[in-house]
This record gives sequence, structure tokens and C-alpha cells, in this order.
Amino acid sequence: MNDYILEMQDITKIFPGVKALDNVNFQVKRGEIHALVGENGAGKSTLMKVLSGVHPYGSYTGRIMLDGKEQRYNGIKESENAGIAIIYQELALVKEMNIAENIYLGNEIKKMGMIDWNKTIANTSKLLKEVGLDDNPLTKIIKLGIGKQQLIEIAKAISKNVNILILDEPTAALNETESENLLNIIRGLKSKGVTCIYISHKLNEVKDIADNITILRDGQTISTMVNDDSMTEDKIISLMVGRELTQRFPRKEHKPLEPVLEVDNLTVYNPEMPDKKMLDNISFTARKGEILGIAGLMGAGRTELAMSLFGSYGVNKSGTVKIEGKEEVINNPRTAIRKGLCYLSEDRKVNGLVLGMDIKENTTLANLHKISRNGVINDNEEIKITNQYVKALKTKTPSIEQKVSNLSGGNQQKVVLAKWLMADPKVLILDEPTRGIDVGAKYEIYNIMNELVEKGVSIIMISSELPEILGMSDRILIMHEGKLTGELDYKEASQEVVMQYATGGM
Ligand SMILES: Nc1ncnc2c1ncn2[C@@H]1O[C@H](COP(=O)(O)OP(=O)(O)OP(=O)(O)O)[C@@H](O)[C@H]1O
Ligand SMILES: [Mg+2]
Repeated sequence: MNDYILEMQDITKIFPGVKALDNVNFQVKRGEIHALVGENGAGKSTLMKVLSGVHPYGSYTGRIMLDGKEQRYNGIKESENAGIAIIYQELALVKEMNIAENIYLGNEIKKMGMIDWNKTIANTSKLLKEVGLDDNPLTKIIKLGIGKQQLIEIAKAISKNVNILILDEPTAALNETESENLLNIIRGLKSKGVTCIYISHKLNEVKDIADNITILRDGQTISTMVNDDSMTEDKIISLMVGRELTQRFPRKEHKPLEPVLEVDNLTVYNPEMPDKKMLDNISFTARKGEILGIAGLMGAGRTELAMSLFGSYGVNKSGTVKIEGKEEVINNPRTAIRKGLCYLSEDRKVNGLVLGMDIKENTTLANLHKISRNGVINDNEEIKITNQYVKALKTKTPSIEQKVSNLSGGNQQKVVLAKWLMADPKVLILDEPTRGIDVGAKYEIYNIMNELVEKGVSIIMISSELPEILGMSDRILIMHEGKLTGELDYKEASQEVVMQYATGGM
């Protein structure tokens, strides 16, 4: 038998204006965990979409060999039948359906022509347990956080009989405990003989879990290396970006000025369950010219806090919010933006981007008044401003007329960021701002945050990546079960102390 379960040979894939894959060779050994890394737009997701038949045979050149036999998939069903399962970077669950329906969508368990609900539900419970969840299989997806949704995607993939499991940034939305849990699930699958292709920008995880690592840059294979001690994170980074990157966090000493946002005794109830308190008596201030980090585990209420301030969560609330000393009642995003408060949401697909529109339209969406006169958009102005942001953020795209649905995940995130930067906010709430962003681009985003803060903007950064919170914040608030449990100056903060507050242990 061939050592390689999978060989992709000389794969070239061209989109209008973009050579996404340029003669890529990619070989995966049977039963290994093979990491695929590279900057945003390097071609990782495209390579996996070629493999899974999303980009069908004929739309690319080159050969796919599975167990030494050439494969020509015309669609995802065919690759699934060959034992390949893929979990996409963009979650693809149907929000209005429940967990069980989603897991067996397209693969319904039937008895005498009818869906066998008892079996569907029982199997779903079992699968959920395998990924560490104990939710009711009949729970609708919309009621679940993005982290849980990711775990359900994984349960769905393992419900199919997989030989090769492809995970495209599976932990981007998970916190550290959940990521660790997921890595263990993958190790378990490996011990059962499943081969895994693992895409991630979290290089510590890659180091942790991979047997071999392949690096893509600009649509080309740079190299495949054994993940041994000589393969340090720094070495992976320099291979990815083609230069050394010595420092991950450009920390600057900021000089925080007067408070710009003052929150007093904010209590907010769940809009769907009126008895359920999501935020419990929260009080804090954010000052001009500082980065205020908010840490906490998933479900601690960080996103609910951000959305409440932005007016996009429940209106059943009490307490006061002041902006520049003046009490404001913000019950919708429009008011928030007008008052100078912007929110970059953690889920860019739901709240951040209109996927069918192009980069230029998305960038200026929240700021049309800035480029219009008498209700007419000045096209030249729109083009000029968008180009400035594309350049500043190094967004990879053939043109600003590209639909954002065609951009790589990380580059979509840059477009959302541009949109809010353009709004010129007083308070900018960033919810997981670097999720899915490669290390080089993260650094650029941190520099932009520093520049904004130096201009007097107040940045509130919610992040599940503790190194990012510790590396960039001036002050850190920690939440646990809807309450603020701690506040630290960055100088007194460490992973351990933050985690203690975050688990309610202090
Ligand atoms: N359907 C499409 N139409 C046009 N261009 C596309 C399409 N899909 C991908 N591209 C382009 O191909 C290139 C590679 O994108 P891909 O999504 O594979 O990157 P990636 O390595 O997965 O990046 P990320 O880490 O940001 O997810 C990018 O320049 C992207 O804009
Ligand atoms: Mg991708």
C-alpha cells in the first residue's frame, strides 16, 4: 500500500484576476495529523475546496490521488463517499434548525421511508458527548454560541464515516479550554486511524498537534517539514511571511485621559428568556486613549455586554450609560454609531458584512453620509477611501470591486475592520478582532489599534486569546457568568491570575 493516503499534484486554480493555487504539491501520510499553514489568502481553503469537490474536477488543473488512485470529484457528495469530510472555516449550520436536524441534514436516518427520530436523537446525543457537549439535540442552532456551533460541526463530520477529516480553522472561535478539548478529540480520531488535515493560524496548536507541517505562500507550496524541535513557531512564521517577525505585540505606553464611556449598574435580561439575567450589575469606565481588554470564558457575557452597549441586544435593561459625561439611551446600532460608539462583532457573517456586496460597498456601508452630498454617493470619494483602507490593512484582493464572499476569511475580517475605522468612533468595541487573522496581519491590526488610541480613541477589546489581551491592553476587566469579577492593570496581569478571575475562583 502507498505510504501516502493523499497526494495532490501540480494543482493550479485560477479565479478571475487571482491565481489562488500555483502548481501546489501536497502529500499526506496515512493516519497522520498534517497541518496546513500560511498567511491570509495563501490558498489553504481553496486547496481543501479542490480536494473536497467544492471546486469540481475540470475547474482546476492537476491531479488528486487517493490511495494511489486518481479522483475526479464533481461535488462534495462524491468526496464524502470517498471518506473525505470537511469542516469549513465559515460555519454552515442552518440556524433555524435544531442540532439533530443539522447533523443529519442530507444524511437523514430513515425507517420505512420516514425519518427515524428516535434513532436520530439518540445518535445525536452520543455524538454530542464525543465532542464534550451535553445540550439537548432538539435545541435550535440559533440559541447556541458560535463556539458550540463549531463543536456541532465537528460532531456532524464524525457522524459520517471519515478517513480524512479536514478542519479549516476549527478553534478560531473556541476558548483555550475548548480548543484543548478539541485537540484531544482530534488525537482520539487519529488513534482510530483517521487522517487529519488541520488548518490554523494558532501556531502553538499546530506545534502541539501536527506530525507534519506544510507551508503555503501566495498559492505556492514553500515546504513540508516534520514537526520536530527544530521547527519553532518563529521558523514557521518566517517561512509563512517570507521574512523574520521578531515581536508579536507592539506594546506602547499609552497615556489614558478622561473617561469617555461610563457604565453604571448595567443589568440586562435575555431578550428570549425574560427571566434570565445575562449581565448583572456591571459598572466600569473606559478612558480616551486606552485599550481596555475584556477577558472571560465563553458564555461569560462579554459579547452580550458589547451588544447591549451597541443597542443590538435586549432592551429589557436597567442602569446608565454615559458617553462623554452625557447619559445616553442606546436601543439600536444607528443611535450607537451616531453617538460615536461602534462595535465589530465576533461573527462577521451575521453582523459585520454583506457578503453579496463588494469591498467598497461594505467599507462605506456605515458611513454613507461621509461620502455623500444631498443623498448622492460620491463614487470617486468612495473609491479613494476604500483604497486607503485596503492599503493600510494590506487586504489581499484583485480589486475593491471584489465581492467579499470571494475573499479569504482573514481578508473579510479586514474589511469589517475598515468599515468601523472609517466611522471614526470615540469608543470602538472590538469583539475577537484578530480571529482568523494571520500573525503578520495581526501585527498590522495591533499597530492600527495603537495609532487610534494615540489619537484619543477608546478601544474596548474582547478576546479569548489571552496572550493578545495581555500583550495589548492597558487595563483588563474579567467577566464570569454575567458579572465583572476582576480588574487588573496590565503590569499585574498574568495568564494564571486572569484565568482565576475568569473561572470565578477569586
Ligand atoms: N470563489 C472565489 N472567487 C474569487 N477569488 C477567490 C475565491 N475563493 C478564494 N479566492 C481568492 O483566492 C485566494 C486564496 O484564498 P483562500 O480562501 O484559499 O485563502 P486562505 O489561505 O484560506 O486564507 P485565510 O487564512 O484568510 O482563510 C485569495 O486571494 C482569495 O481572495
Ligand atoms: Mg481560509
